[in-house]
Amino acid sequence: MSASRGKFNSRIGFILAAAGSAVGLGNIWGFPTQAAGNGGAAFVLMYLILAFCLAYPAFMAELIIGRHGQANAVESLRKVSKDGWQKKFAFIVGFGGILCAALLMSFYSIVAGWMLAFTAEPITTLVGATDTSNWLTAQSTSRNLIFTLIFTLLTVFIISRGVENGIERWSKRLMPALVALLVSLTVYVLTLDGAMDGLKAYLIPDFSQLFEPSLIVSALGQAFFSLSLGTSVIIIYGSYVAKNENLVSLGASVTLIDVFIAFLAGLLIIPAMYVAAAQGVQIFDANGALISGDTLVLTVLPALFDGMGSVGVIVALAFFALMSIASLTSSISMLEAPVSYTVERFGIARNTATMVIGALIFATSCLIIFNFNTLFGFVIALTTQYGQPIIGMLCCIFVGWIWHRSSLLEELKSGNEHVENQLFWKIWPWYTKLVCPVAIALVFIHSL
Ligand code: ALA
Repeated sequence: MSASRGKFNSRIGFILAAAGSAVGLGNIWGFPTQAAGNGGAAFVLMYLILAFCLAYPAFMAELIIGRHGQANAVESLRKVSKDGWQKKFAFIVGFGGILCAALLMSFYSIVAGWMLAFTAEPITTLVGATDTSNWLTAQSTSRNLIFTLIFTLLTVFIISRGVENGIERWSKRLMPALVALLVSLTVYVLTLDGAMDGLKAYLIPDFSQLFEPSLIVSALGQAFFSLSLGTSVIIIYGSYVAKNENLVSLGASVTLIDVFIAFLAGLLIIPAMYVAAAQGVQIFDANGALISGDTLVLTVLPALFDGMGSVGVIVALAFFALMSIASLTSSISMLEAPVSYTVERFGIARNTATMVIGALIFATSCLIIFNFNTLFGFVIALTTQYGQPIIGMLCCIFVGWIWHRSSLLEELKSGNEHVENQLFWKIWPWYTKLVCPVAIALVFIHSL
């Protein structure tokens, strides 16, 4: 079976695919608005600390488990477990992660569908199809169903093509496009009136908020969501990494790119909000807090683009295309987690497995769309507030307490033979064993 498994063909292929999984709506939408609402640069600083001190070690734990196992998440975790309760525990953690990824995709593809609809809207406006434009931008069951389906089909198309021809090839195409769009939009928005006020709100820290528990909880949740931890996605991507790659630097590169893009997105979104304010758009809610969530992306920013005249059409198109691309590179990793498990566990052809799992996830999305008020927030909380931290913490426990230290070192030495003498090996093992699980558990308990 292992001979027929996919593999990333190049180092850059893995970095772009894993960074693509990490960079998504969480970076471009979640991070900037959380930063704006939580003390600006104080949040950015805490995010950086937690991303490198907690999320990066947890990311490494999942990456190493996957590369060692060279198999889906359940099988990879079972390979580092001894017989008995450990194997059962491996199944619970691995399968829990896969379920989390599938559930995550079921709500993520609804939001990504909104991004696709908003990408189409400037075009329908340009050709004068006003009714269609109104339908594209208003919440409706029909629009949500159609665009969630289109987005799910795009994801299914890429995943059905496999690791090299699907995930790697499309990540190499989409990620440079994403960075180019993000940089161009940021440069443009920073030239507009009001942008400097936004820059100040984003970059001048209010240090009195640095150790606010709510700020720490938000920053950790954001870091976990962004790095796709606790979803078995990094385990499965790690399983496609060649044995001669240096995992320590690979993991660091992905974390750095993820943090950098989130920071860059902040340089775009917060100034854009203040530009909108300068044009008379309301950017603070009734409590005086900066507007975030769907109101920000689907109301404030479109109002800003409308106020820009004809250039606004192009800017709107570019912005929502950026959001759609970021969503797609993340959703392909979410679909790969259950697909790889089904292919390897049941010996089903990749195409069939992708279509069946894609259909099941779409059915779950439909259930959410038809019961939007009850299920949408519930599924988001279930996956991001509970599933991801718990499973991420359990992966640290696997590496720290269950996996034999000498076998762990051997895996790390593959592609980095001097790792034993490096700072990483002096700190990371005990840190992942003791500090990460306790810190994640504390933050998680506090969030409850
Ligand atoms: N990691 C993905 C994001 O940040 C889920 O959107």
